[in-house]
Amino acid sequence: MNVLIVGSGGREHALTWKLSQSPLVDRIFIAPGNGGTATIGENVPVKDDDVRGLVEFARKNGVGLVVAGPELPLTLGLSNALSDAGIPCFGPTEYCARLEGSKAFAKEVMLESGVPTAHFAVFRDYAKARDFVEEKGAPIVLKADGLAAGKGVAVCRTKEQALFELEQTMAHKRFGAAGETVVVEEMLAGEEVSFLAFCDGENYALMPTCQDHKAVGEGDSGPNTGGMGAFSPAHILPESEWPEMGEKVIAPVLRHMRAKGHPFVGVLYAGLIMTPEGPMVLEYNVRFGDPECQPLMMRLDSDLAEIMLACCRGDLGGLSIRWKPETAICVVLSAEGYPGPCTTGMALSGFAQAEQDPAVKVFQAGTKPAPGGSVSSGGRVLGVTALGRGLTEARSHAYAAVDKVRFEKSYCRRDIGEKGLKWEPRGN
Ligand code: AMP
Ligand code: GLY
Repeated sequence: MNVLIVGSGGREHALTWKLSQSPLVDRIFIAPGNGGTATIGENVPVKDDDVRGLVEFARKNGVGLVVAGPELPLTLGLSNALSDAGIPCFGPTEYCARLEGSKAFAKEVMLESGVPTAHFAVFRDYAKARDFVEEKGAPIVLKADGLAAGKGVAVCRTKEQALFELEQTMAHKRFGAAGETVVVEEMLAGEEVSFLAFCDGENYALMPTCQDHKAVGEGDSGPNTGGMGAFSPAHILPESEWPEMGEKVIAPVLRHMRAKGHPFVGVLYAGLIMTPEGPMVLEYNVRFGDPECQPLMMRLDSDLAEIMLACCRGDLGGLSIRWKPETAICVVLSAEGYPGPCTTGMALSGFAQAEQDPAVKVFQAGTKPAPGGSVSSGGRVLGVTALGRGLTEARSHAYAAVDKVRFEKSYCRRDIGEKGLKWEPRGN
């Protein structure tokens, strides 16, 4: 079977790496891919938002499975278009992708299906939203309804800040059409956990928990990024509680979508926050997290192609999915300046030295192929990922490998995984 993976980040390199290990997979195409995917499969110059181009490529190249990395093509109807062409797509339809593409839609689904989430109100009218914020005061959270490149959420500590953010979004249209509707919700406090499941429309299989590190600076300081590192498992949500959590935050959404005539196929990712009143859902994503995917792929001990095909066929129930018992951690190396403007075109080397440790894999993200290797081409450049018997061991493998990679003017947080140490079972 030929596979087409859509996307160009560290997540897609990890998916390419894992799918290439499957005996079911012949050729792997990645659209558009990066320097890492090019070392395993064939990069093809089709952009991730070019739905028509992706379908045409898949049809012409005998692709038997398309795997959507990012949400954008899914919100644009990639899965529907592939279904019309008779090609299986691991990733949900346009309707289901609104769980990520529209925060108001996601909140309404959560409310209707009884998923624990922050109290909220939805506004399309600026004056009404302003009155509501005036009345509620701070702290308060504002969310642009649509996709806003990860910048659409403002956690406001003061009423003045909230009113300013609201004006920017609704009156000055800072996020364009994505901010025409705004969700205003109560602020919740607690650590965040990424809770992902493979879904076949009816059944689901939970993945081990992960924790991401969204802030650019150590101690979770500074502006938010796409994610500076992640580890799995995250014991803050103990394994014994995963099945119950699946029934609370995954199953109701699958039932809801099925009842609406739109079964959800792909990865459903619940972003949880561990509040004193119990875990609540902050958001849903309709794809693997990046960088959460990198540690998850290191731990997956089953055939990913088989799992994805089972999801597409609706028979996930018959599969048992194995995960390595080890902990995996991914440390992101970004270009200096990220998440602001940063220099690109920097030479990268030392991967082979880093990977001399069999516990280590260097996944590439914002890179492109260049003579003799890869050069940087984006903000998040590499995801140095390692396994270990616990978080402490995994961290020491990962950081030793980070120090072997040569990438001038790079930046990484040195405290990835530190917040997980307090939850580690004794002996790790
Ligand atoms: P979202 O895109 O909805 O996940 O929001 C991005 C980030 O904003 C989350 O990962 C949280 O750190 C923060 N956030 C979102 N909603 C809330 C909330 N209700 N209370 C506190 N923080 C929030
Ligand atoms: N790492 C967070 C996300 O992929 O949304």
